[in-house]
Amino acid sequence: MNKTDAAARVLKLRQLINDYRYHYHVLDESTMSEAAADSLKHELSVLESEFPDLITPDSPTQRVAGAPAAGFVSVAHSKRMLSLNDVFDFDEIKAWVARLQKLAPNAQLDYFADIKMDGLACALIYEDGLLVRAVTRGDGFTGEDVTLNVRTIESVPLRLRPFDGLEKGRTEVRGEIVMYKADFERLNAQRAAAGQPLFANPRNLAAGTIRQLDPSLVAARPLHFRGYDLQRQDLTETPSNTYEYKAMHALGFLVNTKTLTTDKLDDVFKYIEKWSEKRHSLPYNTDGLVIKIDDRALYERLGVVGKAPRAAVAYKYAAEQATTRVKDIFISIGRTGSATPVAMLEPVVVAGSTVQMATLHNESEIARKDIRVGDTVIVHKAGDIIPEIVEPLVSLRDGSEKPFVMPSVCPECGTSLAKAKAEDAAWRCPNVNCPARAWKRIEHYASKAALDIEGLGEKNVIALLDASHISDAADIYGLRADQLLQLDRFADVSANKLVTAIQAKTRPPLARFIYGLGIRHIGTQTAIDLANNFRSLEALQTATIDQLSGVDGIGDVVAESVVEYFAEESTAQLLTKFKEHDVWPMPVEQVGGPLAGQNFVITGSLQSMSRDQAAEKIRALGGTFQSSLGKDTDYLVVGANVGAAKLAKAAKYGTRQITEADLLKLL
Ligand code: IVH
Repeated sequence: MNKTDAAARVLKLRQLINDYRYHYHVLDESTMSEAAADSLKHELSVLESEFPDLITPDSPTQRVAGAPAAGFVSVAHSKRMLSLNDVFDFDEIKAWVARLQKLAPNAQLDYFADIKMDGLACALIYEDGLLVRAVTRGDGFTGEDVTLNVRTIESVPLRLRPFDGLEKGRTEVRGEIVMYKADFERLNAQRAAAGQPLFANPRNLAAGTIRQLDPSLVAARPLHFRGYDLQRQDLTETPSNTYEYKAMHALGFLVNTKTLTTDKLDDVFKYIEKWSEKRHSLPYNTDGLVIKIDDRALYERLGVVGKAPRAAVAYKYAAEQATTRVKDIFISIGRTGSATPVAMLEPVVVAGSTVQMATLHNESEIARKDIRVGDTVIVHKAGDIIPEIVEPLVSLRDGSEKPFVMPSVCPECGTSLAKAKAEDAAWRCPNVNCPARAWKRIEHYASKAALDIEGLGEKNVIALLDASHISDAADIYGLRADQLLQLDRFADVSANKLVTAIQAKTRPPLARFIYGLGIRHIGTQTAIDLANNFRSLEALQTATIDQLSGVDGIGDVVAESVVEYFAEESTAQLLTKFKEHDVWPMPVEQVGGPLAGQNFVITGSLQSMSRDQAAEKIRALGGTFQSSLGKDTDYLVVGANVGAAKLAKAAKYGTRQITEADLLKLL
């Protein structure tokens, strides 16, 4: 980028970041996620370091703190409320420990780790056991008196329970005010139903709530206070963080009971790994962990640098959002011919992995979000979920961005794209022989949920197609090791392994085979339902729409799709080829088991097994597992957390209701 372009970009970035900060810190509203804003700040600071002349004193990169809002009384903290320095990987944790070891060479380092909650910090002050004041963090030195609001939070004790004399004199408990994810979603659903604008995220809603001037409004919104620090005048009363948590719990506070105390750094790493997987199942949002030196005296002795104590760090999980640019939008043709627009992005790291593509779903989704080629966009990725574009940053546009136009023909084979139904959002390539569909169909046939043939992933399938060794899924059964060896991708062992893996799958279970054919709208469960009802591929091939839609759980869309699939000439050819290779699915035996003729529905969650396991057991004994309650249902198995509507329906049909224990007896 030249200097003129950089200057224009820097100005726009500053404007956007400043808007974000104002909304976020002053108005308690969020215009984008913190991670996305960080990503923009990063771009700004890179540009500024490249062109230092462009730095101005009002640049967000030069800012230190925000101003408190008016409306509440300011209160000075008895002891500064500090922040934490961030670390992002194990090496940085090791470096932190090495620094501490240098500063305290003879000290025994015990570590204490807790989950870092994403809420707002608050200090609660108790005099002789009675809650006298609640103060927000503010700038760390001075916060706002929010006592009336905090008193409405059920998890805040108004009077301390006695424990070790800590209920006497002055006790300050610091912690985080959070809103649980489920409550947040419920409140937003109510707002959506009422046509009101939605809240951005649980943290902002918690922060906004605690700064409401009307406490009755606060009481109507479920908030929780979870303690993480207990302060007494005399430090010897609280010798360690481990003790503090025990004491806070005994005094009547909500604390994390799954903290870690250890003298081994490896245990800390294991704790981090454990929570990086499990954190999404916590009731509140977390963006990392807090690791502290457990011993309070040592913690204090190690002191403070800047705004953070030396003896603690925040381990941050990789950000789930980042900003990047849309380089292009292209059309990807799926296994069933769906034509999906996909954004090609400038590579960016999101949630720990590099993202270069994001699905845009369909034409109207692109129009709704107004995503253009050249736009700077916010990319989101949570856990294993496919990356998504949240929104374009419209104010960063310079006029060169190009709106997306859906092509009229398939980019792979030139066939005109069509819609199955006029009201469908998605376009499709109707050409069943479209080359883009071939490899995806074969890969799908070999996938884990279908035939489960190891070694037939995307790359190998494409290589085999390119070499003209195969053209469809049936051809894989004719593959010989010597053909595979002609390809760079295979050596003796891997070639033989693949041929053996393929030949082991010539009599697949019917449901897997049906799923593997890749018929539109047939997922794994529908394939199981079809297999159990038609019991052989021949019967399914000749099934009519009426017979199909008569099956429990199968609607018109699936029924039509099945009939259409088997009517196609290319399907007949494929099935003939399978037969020539002596490949055919096993029919489902008519089991005259003890549950033959009995229909079961399960509602709610079971304790001893999953629903799928229960369904499998019922079927193994000849029974039929239905996905929804009907007049022909014989048994309704009632698990935990069941809605009243289901039970009322069962009562109406006169369905017999049994417990999980009853079911286990039957099984
Ligand atoms: S210990 C010096 N433990 O994170 C502050 N803090 O970035 C030591 N936070 O202001 C705090 N969960 O509001 C601690 N389990 C936890 C926490 C936690 C969230 C917040 C806290 C603090 C900020 C530091």
